[in-house]
Amino acid sequence: MEPLQVAPGIYSVGVRDWNIRDFHGYSTDLGTTYNAFLILDEKVALIDSVKKEFADELLANISRVIDPRRIDFVISNHTELDHAGSLARVMHRIGEDKPLICSKMGAKNLARHFPQKWNYRAVGSGEEVRLGRRTLRFLETRMIHWPDSMFTYALEDGILFSSDGFGQHYAGPETFDDEVGDRILHHAKKYFANILLPYTGLIAKLLQQVAELRLDIRMICPDHGVLWRSNPTKILEAYRTWCRQEPGRSAVVVYDTMWHSTEKMAEAINEGILSAGVPSRPMHLRAWHRSEIVTEVFDARALVVGSPTLNNGLFPTVADFLCYLKGLKPQNKIGAAFGSYGWSGEAVRQIEEELERMKIPRVQEGLRVTFVPDAETIAACHAFGRAIGRAVAESPGASS
Ligand SMILES: Cc1cc2nc3c(=O)[nH]c(=O)nc-3n(C[C@H](O)[C@H](O)[C@H](O)COP(=O)(O)O)c2cc1C
Ligand SMILES: [Fe+2]
Ligand SMILES: [Fe+2]
Repeated sequence: MEPLQVAPGIYSVGVRDWNIRDFHGYSTDLGTTYNAFLILDEKVALIDSVKKEFADELLANISRVIDPRRIDFVISNHTELDHAGSLARVMHRIGEDKPLICSKMGAKNLARHFPQKWNYRAVGSGEEVRLGRRTLRFLETRMIHWPDSMFTYALEDGILFSSDGFGQHYAGPETFDDEVGDRILHHAKKYFANILLPYTGLIAKLLQQVAELRLDIRMICPDHGVLWRSNPTKILEAYRTWCRQEPGRSAVVVYDTMWHSTEKMAEAINEGILSAGVPSRPMHLRAWHRSEIVTEVFDARALVVGSPTLNNGLFPTVADFLCYLKGLKPQNKIGAAFGSYGWSGEAVRQIEEELERMKIPRVQEGLRVTFVPDAETIAACHAFGRAIGRAVAESPGASS
């Protein structure tokens, strides 16, 4: 990506990773970007870096704007290696003694990733650095989503450099949200549902804090995807809504199957849900990536999970999905379990146990069938789905 001036004296010097399709277990069908920003003033600052393998590209981009040795300090908003991975190369090139500004936790965590004894300058919320005409103010955002995470706010420019916050795994020809249009919100929501969901309480507080600071935010520059320039309030509002975790009146039927019996059940259950006037979709765990499923589950009130019994337990993809979802701590769901089995049939109970651990109340007793469902069982699945659909229709929450 060629360096681009995104505001007077502020350049986007990061890179596009067109080919990544699996970002630590998250499907990135359109690739992603690792954004980094160069601010030219009397002093020159670099905000964040990129993955290690893109260090050359980052340094080449910087060199097209300014000699990298003229960078006076580097700001690391987040230690995760998609943003800090090329720090070793960057610091080596610009001067190992240059100040490296980060949060207190950042200094601690960066030292756990890099053996170099860098000139760390730990900053706390409200601390400022003057670049000349400009002031940079820091805001710690602990556990959103790492202990070291922070935002950097360029006061006079009204630009919030928000690290992973408000990011999207999206690589395209565009640089700004208005160039993509509303479809970018799906990518922002997927990022929120898969990365930030466990921290909605903290994010809601942070949004409140930002509102109270009355910051004039004219642009939000996250470290992934496009920059929010057309109307930054839109993504702030979206985050406020998402933090409430008020799902719409819809359902998702997530399952896997070996010989199509659980699949037949899933489709009949789905029809039953639809017959109650509630939108629902069956999602086969090997047809859909878990991160897409989680995005759908995030929007849905009911989560219905199906698994055949395999060797006295869950089918592995179902276990994988439940393990992943549990970590994300979804709120305000209702659930139910189903599945086909041959002789012992433990899977349905095991799904229910997982739902209980996630504090997802059961709307229906689990539905099990021995081997292939017959017409009567299919009718039972339909009724099971219809009852779930009714429970969703009667539940509070935004209609979808
Ligand atoms: C490798 C393998 C192991 C299985 N282990 C069990 C088991 O431990 N207990 C059980 O009740 N059924 C077991 N089954 C039987 C399946 O649960 C049964 O065939 C079920 O109808 C499959 O549902 P599906 O068509 O949705 O895959 C096993 C099947 C296979 C192929
Ligand atoms: Fe991160
Ligand atoms: Fe990131």
